Amino acid sequence: MLSEDLISLLVVARLGGRLLTLDERHRTARGFFVGNDTFTSLFLNMLYRLLENRSLWEAVKADRSLVNVAIEESLRLDPPSIGMFRLSTHRIELHGVEIPEHSRVLFAIPGANHDPAVFDRPDEFRLDRPREEMQRHLGFGFGPHFCPGASIARLEANIALNRVLDRMPDLELTEPPERIEPFNFWGYKTFMAKW
Ligand code: HEM
Repeated sequence: MLSEDLISLLVVARLGGRLLTLDERHRTARGFFVGNDTFTSLFLNMLYRLLENRSLWEAVKADRSLVNVAIEESLRLDPPSIGMFRLSTHRIELHGVEIPEHSRVLFAIPGANHDPAVFDRPDEFRLDRPREEMQRHLGFGFGPHFCPGASIARLEANIALNRVLDRMPDLELTEPPERIEPFNFWGYKTFMAKW
């Protein structure tokens, strides 16, 4: 009987009638370890926004129902993954721009997440954003390729922020953190703080 774990499914998965090559299996399995960097970025991006405006840190510390709000607002304002490629299956016109068939298109997640037509005062980190508005961010992508690690990333962030608030309630930055060089990721490479 076939086990239902990822590796077993990859061994028997078929693409256009054929089995996957070893390289395709490796690449797909590796995809499930990418959550590491993106999670670190989510956590530090969120910590930075809360520490840069102390009143936000104090608000979340006092009312832990705001932890999940801070996580969603961070995913919206500072999405760790900046963009994903898609291949157009046919010619289409979007917002006056023609995209020919078989074009490689990068969809820019921060652009969508800062869209003033969707988000009120989009460049502000707010803990009072209406829920329906907040849920419209694309931090985990959209459609059939929506991030399968979204739930675990949200859970990890919730546990981590609650632990830091409990154990380091007076956490503060000691110098401005340095950003990683962005191509496709948005996070920090240094984060100096004391408690
Ligand atoms: C804060 C953490 C994370 C962020 C911001 C994030 C973001 C994303 C984004 C934007 C995509 C592309 C979705 C699309 O193309 O529409 C994606 C895909 C993916 N993510 Fe995540 N991710 C995170 C954590 C994780 C974790 C923890 C895992 C594994 C357990 C994971 C595994 C994957 C995989 C395998 C895909 C490819 C899905 C597909 O192409 O069908 N991610 N992620």
